[in-house]
Amino acid sequence: MIDLSGVSKGFMQKDGRKFGAIENVTFSIRKGEFLSLLGPSGCGKSTLLNLIAGLEQADSGEISMQGKKINGPAPDRTVVFQEHALFPWMTVIDNVAFGLKQKGIPKKTRSEIAMEKLQMVHLTRFAARYPHELSVGMRQRVAIARALSMDPEILLMDEPFAALDEQTRLILHKQLEEITVITGTTLLFITHNIREAIFLSDRILVMSTRPGRIKREFTVPVARPRDYVDPHLHQLEAAIMETLGEELEKVLKEEIGYEFRIKKNAVPDLAVNHLGNEL
Ligand SMILES: Nc1ncnc2c1ncn2[C@@H]1O[C@H](COP(=O)(O)OP(=O)(O)OP(=O)(O)O)[C@@H](O)[C@H]1O
Ligand SMILES: [Mg+2]
Repeated sequence: MIDLSGVSKGFMQKDGRKFGAIENVTFSIRKGEFLSLLGPSGCGKSTLLNLIAGLEQADSGEISMQGKKINGPAPDRTVVFQEHALFPWMTVIDNVAFGLKQKGIPKKTRSEIAMEKLQMVHLTRFAARYPHELSVGMRQRVAIARALSMDPEILLMDEPFAALDEQTRLILHKQLEEITVITGTTLLFITHNIREAIFLSDRILVMSTRPGRIKREFTVPVARPRDYVDPHLHQLEAAIMETLGEELEKVLKEEIGYEFRIKKNAVPDLAVNHLGNEL
């Protein structure tokens, strides 16, 4: 549904030189799939998401959705960031319905849609409350309901649960899993949390250190609803850790000159289809 082909993007540094944030990235996001991006800090995950959202322009390469070039932001690609960014002066339901109001949808219809989306995150009881009256996790659920209210073709989530404590995170995982099953929404999800990526995704792309490229692809061959203690998920976790570990070795060497080796071949190679540039 979304296709990236040979996409590169650099940023200008203070000294006027340009450095590559991502380089020659090629992959597709299939309709209805939950795809996660994992990779070391600064490898260009958010840059990739922003390019797909249309918030940034690529230096080279093509990004298209359903065959049409992406030129800018659009409501069919909704973004959920780590910070919920709700309007503090609006009630929960008005926050969720905000985009619908912008679209000119009549009040009754937008209230119905907003309540339906709040139902998906189990927050209808809090519709008349204000954001400051909710916990951080609940606010993030409102942000998800707001994103869903636009009926996007794809939901783009950039570390949406990074600020949450572990228990709240588990609740949000279950809710997002449920939403995925009910709506069949296509999802691009960025996280640093390997377990989170494995629990939620159909497919995971692991990126290399800057300039970011797609290093490996893993599929998660486990049906939903999933169980955290599923041994298949644990095996995959070890395999992904090994792949990411190679990148962390590079970061440590580059940043602090520290030679660090993780144990190799501790797990079978579970990567499928080498995408992009193998390093
Ligand atoms: N608007 C910008 N101007 C200049 N440099 C930028 C800009 N956006 C990102 N960068 C740089 O590009 C590189 C990739 O950044 P990006 O935010 O995409 O990484 P990331 O993988 O999302 O990192 P993190 O995991 O820490 O969120 C970083 O070195 C970052 O400093
Ligand atoms: Mg980021």
